[in-house]
Amino acid sequence: MATIKRTKRLLILPGDGIGPEILAQARRVVEWFAARRGLAIDLREEHFGIPAWHAHGSLLRDETWAEIEAADAILFGAIGSPDYDRIPGAQEGTGLLRMRTELNLYINLRPVKALAALGAIAPIKADVLRNTDFVIVRELVGGIYVGTPRGIDTVDGVRRGRNTMVYSAPEIERIARAAFELARTRDGRVCSVDKSNVLETSRLWRAVVQELHDAEYRDVDLSHMFVDNAAMQLVRAPSQFDVLLMENLFGDILSDVGAAVAGSIGMLPSASMNGMYADSTERHRALYEPIHGSAPDIAGKGVANPCGAILSFAMCLRHSFMRPDEAAFLEAAVIRAIEGGARTPDIALPGQPPVSTARMGDSILRALDAAHDLKEAS
Ligand code: IPM
Ligand code: MG
Repeated sequence: MATIKRTKRLLILPGDGIGPEILAQARRVVEWFAARRGLAIDLREEHFGIPAWHAHGSLLRDETWAEIEAADAILFGAIGSPDYDRIPGAQEGTGLLRMRTELNLYINLRPVKALAALGAIAPIKADVLRNTDFVIVRELVGGIYVGTPRGIDTVDGVRRGRNTMVYSAPEIERIARAAFELARTRDGRVCSVDKSNVLETSRLWRAVVQELHDAEYRDVDLSHMFVDNAAMQLVRAPSQFDVLLMENLFGDILSDVGAAVAGSIGMLPSASMNGMYADSTERHRALYEPIHGSAPDIAGKGVANPCGAILSFAMCLRHSFMRPDEAAFLEAAVIRAIEGGARTPDIALPGQPPVSTARMGDSILRALDAAHDLKEAS
């Protein structure tokens, strides 16, 4: 583990919809760690998406891109708004997808843990959810998201839309390696998800994952599952999984299933990286974001759950700052705040008045203060 303590550059990009509200709370938490725990952070913030369009007439201006390139880690809010339809040529996912591909953030971790505090509001029965604790490892820069040929054209007078799912063996191998390495730090099990009964990309996927396993990771327990079955198993028996490995589109879909299963999608963080930890690659780059979207229907109302964004900063502490102790400290504080009764509407208990986004942030800061004072005193 790296011993040199270097100031890390952290860039906050709140983005669209509820992004600015939740990132305002996440920023308070980041500043708390800088002030109270001596974390060396060079903190920056830039508009991104629709707010950037309003402020600068550009969804992603060059100055912002330069900040993105210079950052060690990015804390991202959300992307998506009906306003994109009013901007000629704009497509809403573009800015985020550009960061993923140009920064080569091919490892996407989406942890799902069933919290006892959310048992009462989770859509799945408590006994089915018990011990649910898995991570989806999603390949994030390849597959049908980027494959060519793609587009909408007209052939013999008939309009046609086309996308291409393509994976090379090295692309599969590097994400499989990430999954096996992660499994070694957990329960030692990887379930690789594919559609190899139909798709060639999946047949190659399964073969490459198996070959890597047999050559280097025999200590990890590897299984394979078809994606349709995996969707069912995630709802039927989510506690069977430890590490779930899959390609880009399958990961997009199944991570929403996984998130809903455990309670609220507002709770879940994610990390997108070009290496597992900041000491594992020459120039580590990472983007941390809650897995929920921009939720335009509730934007500006002060009711969005900031926990997914705040827990994304916990992942940043773990993977970019190499501070697993501080990450666990923050995760525990979030749980204590919820157990203490601070719940935004998405996680509110029946008959209990929900708190606002800002009050949720207050409660988490109070829980951090209390734990910090306790630690100082001991
Ligand atoms: C996600 C999102 C993105 C994706 C969109 C916003 C492009 O749904 O991160 O899961 O499809 O990957
Ligand atoms: Mg998605």
